[in-house]
Amino acid sequence: MSQKFLVTSALPYVNGVKHLGNVIGSLLPADIYARWRRMQGHDVLAVCGTDEHGTPCELAALEEGLPVADYAAKYYAIQKGIYEALGLSFDYFGRTSSPQNRAITQHLFLRLWENGYIAERAIRQLYCADCARFLPDRYVQGTCPFCGFTRALGDQCESCTKLLDPTDLREPRCAVCQRSNLQVRESKHLFLDLPKAAPLVENWIATRTHWPKVTLAIAHKWLNEGLRERCITRDLKWGVPVPHDGYRDKVFYVWFDAPIGYIGISMEWAEARGTPDAWQRYWKDPATRLVQFIGKDNVPFHAVTWPAVIMAAADGFVLCDMLKAFEWLNYEGGKFSTSQGRGVFSDQAVELFPADYWRYYLCVVAPEKGDSDFTWAGFQAAVNSDLANVLGNFVHRTLTFVNKNWGGVVPEAVGAGDAEAAIRQTLADTVKAVDDAMEECSFQKAVRAQRDAWAAANAYFQAKQPWHQVKTDKAAAGTTLNTCVHLCRAFAVLGSPFIPFAARQLFANLALDGSAEATPWTTIEDWACLTGHKVSPKPAPLFTKIEDAQVTQLQARFAGAQTKS
Ligand code: MF3
Ligand code: ZN
Repeated sequence: MSQKFLVTSALPYVNGVKHLGNVIGSLLPADIYARWRRMQGHDVLAVCGTDEHGTPCELAALEEGLPVADYAAKYYAIQKGIYEALGLSFDYFGRTSSPQNRAITQHLFLRLWENGYIAERAIRQLYCADCARFLPDRYVQGTCPFCGFTRALGDQCESCTKLLDPTDLREPRCAVCQRSNLQVRESKHLFLDLPKAAPLVENWIATRTHWPKVTLAIAHKWLNEGLRERCITRDLKWGVPVPHDGYRDKVFYVWFDAPIGYIGISMEWAEARGTPDAWQRYWKDPATRLVQFIGKDNVPFHAVTWPAVIMAAADGFVLCDMLKAFEWLNYEGGKFSTSQGRGVFSDQAVELFPADYWRYYLCVVAPEKGDSDFTWAGFQAAVNSDLANVLGNFVHRTLTFVNKNWGGVVPEAVGAGDAEAAIRQTLADTVKAVDDAMEECSFQKAVRAQRDAWAAANAYFQAKQPWHQVKTDKAAAGTTLNTCVHLCRAFAVLGSPFIPFAARQLFANLALDGSAEATPWTTIEDWACLTGHKVSPKPAPLFTKIEDAQVTQLQARFAGAQTKS
């Protein structure tokens, strides 16, 4: 039965270009999941977009010498282009700075206010007398009291990583004007009453027993430590304005409007397709399954704060059905580092190799059971062995054989025997394994099951020895090749969510329409559809092997300033 699914990927911060850890940490899994559900015939709305507010974005704009709105527009476009090149099939890639998100954020805030979940508090803050503005934590620079680093920011020292308060800094100065004309002033802010919402969240989390272990562990840790009131306003110009007297010169804290952005982006999607209310069909239907993909640092916001907002606002929005959190992907035994240029970034990735190579390898090393490691050797092995030698080779030998011996017309399967029964069973088991893995959002398992099936198909070809069969019993050879061609088609359908570009090429090699409509999941085990069909006379290779010399070069090129630990 067709169900409604809302699929979301964590919204990447707009500043800069994201690395491969971010890609496997939410963007790619959301795409694969959405593609899989669509092929199953479900009604899917998959959204993502850039998270554009907050001080890191403002400061990055300052550094690039651009007005923050221009800066955000620039990197929104850059990121959008990269994700298209990676084959990410979001129904809409929007922005948290959209008018839609502004409207829905203000609306939910007003609901929270009416329902008594907002408190007013006065806090003491640094104020720059020269700029005539309050300074958010990151707008204060100074010397770290712990390590003496002279460019520490008011929330954390980048050098020794200690967490700081702006008032801890020695010789504090304003990050905007670089002067030190600072005062401590009192200012009123709005707080989300999380203690009041805590029982709602606790009862709800207790029903999420099907969530992955990491997600639940982090959520429970937060709840057990006790929830405190959380400040949701900031003294900035860039952000969603607070629609309440006394606060109209402030904006909401980025983590207040960002998750609401999932709804805002759905509204953008609805408007872009000329059905401005269509987003409500998903967000306001209690039967919709909301499936969210995030990095583990985002769990508290998705498991606690945002659901608290949704429940306290009591406006009929669906809550998350599945929250899949990923751990960290490391780079060659160390960390990816933006500032040191260490590791592979998504813009470089799509220029270096076809998207599927990354998509496949990132699933193989998906950090699902702890942190994992990107290595060039592992990447090369995944491409050369799994993709080229196993899948690519199987497809190539099958189609070449059919072209050579039957003029490209798929022969009949007469007298299928034990070997055919066995390989059909293998495929049936594989489909079940992939579906089960995807249902629990285990991407490593889902690609491993397919790789094993590719290997089994090669072993079948090898064991049947059609190059001998064709000389002694051409009908028997026909049975073998009929089976192999159907396996090729099955692998194309099964592989579509994971390696969509290669799957497309494989459909083209089979001279088949590879569109999603033409290739529903239910046809994977159709063992008769291609008999008598003519395949392409010139099947193109699906994958190209990566040479050792190239790997050595890439290791050196991406090692960054830091030497390997
Ligand atoms: N921008 C955040 C990050 O990269 C994720 C935001 S997710 C959402 O860590 F909840 F805001 F949507
Ligand atoms: Zn200043």
